[in-house]
Amino acid sequence: MNEDGVNLSIKFLNSYIESFKDLSEEQENNFVIKQNHSKRVAENALGLSEKLELPEKDKRLAFIIAMFHDIGRFLQLVQYNTFNDSKSVDHAELGVEVLKNERIPEQLSCGEENVIYSAILAHNKFEIPKKLSEQEQLHAKILRDADKLDILKVLTDYYSNRNAAPNHTLTWELPKSAWVSDAVAKEILAGKLVSKKNVASELDVKIMQMSWIFDLNFKASVEYVLEKRYLEKIYESTSKSDRIIDIYRKVKVFAENKMMK
Ligand SMILES: [Fe+2]
Repeated sequence: MNEDGVNLSIKFLNSYIESFKDLSEEQENNFVIKQNHSKRVAENALGLSEKLELPEKDKRLAFIIAMFHDIGRFLQLVQYNTFNDSKSVDHAELGVEVLKNERIPEQLSCGEENVIYSAILAHNKFEIPKKLSEQEQLHAKILRDADKLDILKVLTDYYSNRNAAPNHTLTWELPKSAWVSDAVAKEILAGKLVSKKNVASELDVKIMQMSWIFDLNFKASVEYVLEKRYLEKIYESTSKSDRIIDIYRKVKVFAENKMMK
């Protein structure tokens, strides 16, 4: 794949998005949010692959995969009026279907279609399927980290802005609570990624987001989280209790130890 692959991928995503007609104002807004997210994730993926000193072709591939990773979101919103996969479809599977129908990877002629599809399919799963090839694993890892780094950016911008209007896409429409659920506390204090099924309040969502630190694949990603002070920003947005203080200490120490290795 040549350098044009990068520019072409931006063009393909834009023209795919423009092919939707008669959107409501709310749909338009959500389209712009996902389009901008895709571009920032692509920048993150490129940045990570540069830190990893990958060959040029892998840098470009990482960028392209990230640019298309949420392409299923647009059809999902139009067909089901939600971004909630459990109430509609798996947006990663839908995205791969869209890419195949639009014959996008073929037109990029990168010969890496399977890597693109497997990385996208793995991006929203609890873990990366073990059966993937080494190349597929690498790109799934880059995409998952790049995606989490952007979600952390968006969330912490939102949490830090006290005047922001409530955003139910970010808080999952869950009740407020001052108490971290027992199951959530148990997972994060054991150094595990918090599972969605245990999340019962807005506060649990924040704790789950802190637990992403355990799931980052590269030291460069942890370094980025520390630099941007994402853990602090989430912590500062919670009401303090001994449990939350313990949790914050756990993730912070984990991140700092990662940097020593
Ligand atoms: Fe996604």
